Amino acid sequence: MLKIEGIEASYGPVKALHGVTIEVPEGSVVTLLGPNGAGKTTILRVVSGLLRPSAGRVEFDGRRIDRRSTEAIVRMGISHVPEGRQLFDEMTVHENLMLGAYTRNDRDGIKADIKRLNGYFPILEERREQPAGSLSGGEQQQLAVARGLMSRPRLLLLDEPSLGLAPLVSREIFRILRQVNREEGITIFLVEQDATSALSFADYGYVVETGRVVIEATSDKLKEDENVRRAYLGY
Ligand SMILES: Nc1ncnc2c1ncn2[C@@H]1O[C@H](COP(=O)(O)OP(=O)(O)OP(=O)(O)O)[C@@H](O)[C@H]1O
Ligand SMILES: [Mg+2]
Repeated sequence: MLKIEGIEASYGPVKALHGVTIEVPEGSVVTLLGPNGAGKTTILRVVSGLLRPSAGRVEFDGRRIDRRSTEAIVRMGISHVPEGRQLFDEMTVHENLMLGAYTRNDRDGIKADIKRLNGYFPILEERREQPAGSLSGGEQQQLAVARGLMSRPRLLLLDEPSLGLAPLVSREIFRILRQVNREEGITIFLVEQDATSALSFADYGYVVETGRVVIEATSDKLKEDENVRRAYLGY
């Protein structure tokens, strides 16, 4: 479904990606692991059109997307839940959700989607009129994911959804994401620092270090890999 081929990308004179190739099959959960500064967020930014690669290509459903605008990419069915959530703190939960639907104008469909999402995120219905900034960290992350789903994506890009959350809260987020993957058939490309959670959730994983893929394998194989265990799983 998503094909990233040999992408290179820079921030000014600093090269962040040195030829990264990744594939995400439809219906799957694929994770991207790696230390701080490895280029994980940069890869997601290239996919969602926020950063143009200097070489390589990105294809979605066989169509090239690396020259398209972010809005066009959202319309094609890719949604990016960014690192740090990026909610509008002063706006209500409901208003934040509506922002996720900015590319749509089917009012009845939007209403129906909010109702359906309330099934996955009941807390958001309870907090509907509260400012997003008043929610707990875990609730804010749920809102960020729900907002990402409001564009009706077929591919969801998630950048460190467990960041800063207690293990129990993070587990709850992954439980919901698994449901969304299975019940809605939404493909997930997940960036995570918490390798244990990521590998128990994902089918396949890539490890990036300093802008390059250094290992790729099924999650089960990665869990057994000596280097991955030592560097990312801590045993
Ligand atoms: N806006 C920017 N301007 C300049 N350099 C940047 C910018 N954003 C990222 N970089 C650099 O690009 C490299 C990759 O950064 P990136 O944010 O993709 O890493 P990451 O793997 O997501 O790290 P983390 O786990 O800390 O989120 C780093 O060396 C970083 O310093
Ligand atoms: Mg990052």
